[in-house]
Amino acid sequence: MAGMRSKPRYLIPDTTIFGPPANSMSRTALANSNAEGEWWKKTTVYHVYVRSFYDSNGDGIGDIQGIIEKLDYLHDLGYETIWVSPFTQSPQKDFGYDISDYLSISPEYGDMPLFEKLVEEVHRRSMKLVFDLVVNHTSSEHSWFTESASSRDNPKADWYVWKDGKGKKGLKRPNNWRAMAGNKAWTYHPQRKQFYYTAFLPFQPDLNYHNPEVKQAMFEVIRFWLNKGVDGFRLDIISAIYEDSELRSNPPSPRLTPSDKSLSIFFQNLKNNFLHEKSFEFATELRRVVDEFDNPKRVLIGESHGDEALIRRFCQNDGQYGLHAVFLFKAISTPFKAEKYREMLMTFEKHFPEPLIPTLVFANHDRNRVISRLGGSIEKAKLLALFQFTCRGIPFTYFGDEIGIPRVRIPLKDGKDAIAIQHKWVPQFLVDRSSEILNRDECRTPMLWNERPRAGFCESSAEPWLPVADSFREINVEKQISEPHSLLNFYRKIIRLRNKAPSLHAGSLEILHDLCDRKILAYRRIFNEEKHIVLLNMSHQQVKTPLNKPVLLSTHPQSPVHQLQPFEGRIINESH
Ligand code: GLC
Repeated sequence: MAGMRSKPRYLIPDTTIFGPPANSMSRTALANSNAEGEWWKKTTVYHVYVRSFYDSNGDGIGDIQGIIEKLDYLHDLGYETIWVSPFTQSPQKDFGYDISDYLSISPEYGDMPLFEKLVEEVHRRSMKLVFDLVVNHTSSEHSWFTESASSRDNPKADWYVWKDGKGKKGLKRPNNWRAMAGNKAWTYHPQRKQFYYTAFLPFQPDLNYHNPEVKQAMFEVIRFWLNKGVDGFRLDIISAIYEDSELRSNPPSPRLTPSDKSLSIFFQNLKNNFLHEKSFEFATELRRVVDEFDNPKRVLIGESHGDEALIRRFCQNDGQYGLHAVFLFKAISTPFKAEKYREMLMTFEKHFPEPLIPTLVFANHDRNRVISRLGGSIEKAKLLALFQFTCRGIPFTYFGDEIGIPRVRIPLKDGKDAIAIQHKWVPQFLVDRSSEILNRDECRTPMLWNERPRAGFCESSAEPWLPVADSFREINVEKQISEPHSLLNFYRKIIRLRNKAPSLHAGSLEILHDLCDRKILAYRRIFNEEKHIVLLNMSHQQVKTPLNKPVLLSTHPQSPVHQLQPFEGRIINESH
């Protein structure tokens, strides 16, 4: 029984590193709440890109009814939380990340009664629903922006980041800032004869959070959805929420392309328009708003790039709790090698010890597909899943990665994605050589449900909004359900095992450095008397197992006990 669990033993104490927990919660109270209420620490998240998941009405675009119809699939796999990409009103220039009305549903996805049904259906299965909230910016078609742009003295004149231009005619940009998408961050607005700032693309003007009215308006949006019963939010580019109030220019950087570690692009370090000190305070304010709703508790997960030592401050800053978790994108760019993964785990454990929690993210709707990054290897994909679902952290699966949907090559010139449109000038041969994607359509192609036309994503008479992967007859859900050793069935096994075993979903993690080397990564998960050891052979060679013990689950079920096959991972139950 959850309430009877005693406190897990955590290897790294929280208070010595970060100071006392906020809200005057004692450590014992905190430990109890971990066991009972902090569902997000134990959960597994499936990321539904709504447009591409399942089309229920034959228009070639996935919809809310489509999600409802596929909930049993997710529930059966063992996922406990779904994160749904934005579905509120939007001109869809950035497919929902450009919101024109926060409080109503885009008709191509459904309507409010249908959304309410989704909440109900998710909860009926004892699952949770988290949705994407774009607080940093709106669409330039949002009425807040059109009003703000209409004059310099209207009631919302200060709701966005406006600034006079430089030069005699005021037509030169106020400073050198670049946006995260690489473009220049200021756009001239002829009506106001001023520039407005965008952290992303020019049709996504940034809200001005230095203005308390903006904050309050957004807090009301948040309360609206929490009252509808949503269990939390994924906060889109929360790293961009504040910018330097003096608008100082950015210093140079040696980097041309962005990385998961530092926010630099086009030889510029974005230090004055991203990860501003006030962002961390804002996270604690947001936390207070969601904490108004505590039965059940709601969750905030932030999207931020940057060094772990810095972005953990979104979660805990000056002894105050903020977001419940932030994405740790380092996992995406860390080479698939035992020593690199060991370093990554050490970093995550160092910066996100209890009561914080790391996240385990290997793909999303902006990045390359997992299987394509792993060179198409199903063995590696299983090993990665074993790692992801046995580490301490919240695992996120991007839809379709559980069956190995590959990156679908779509030339930049055909891109529907706003980033692809912006980068049309980049020579295609450079894009083809890169292991990352520039045209995000390539990772957003429809889910492959079966081998019928359109892979069962939509009616065969409909034209899917993006092409279906050619390999859909070999790679699809129906087929993999019927194959006992498929990637999908491995996901089901490992997720279900994680859900059952407290050490795997709530225990502490101890890296077994003595067993680790260039080929092997080994760690132990511990919860009270329950202990599991995880061994991962991340090399292409057979190795003698450092632990000759009965195997609870392996990526290679036929493997002899004394030997680990190339890219084999196994779990050993040490409890008895
Ligand atoms: C985030 C989203 C991305 C979107 C951007 C602007 O990075 O993941 O898809 O385009 O923010 O909202």
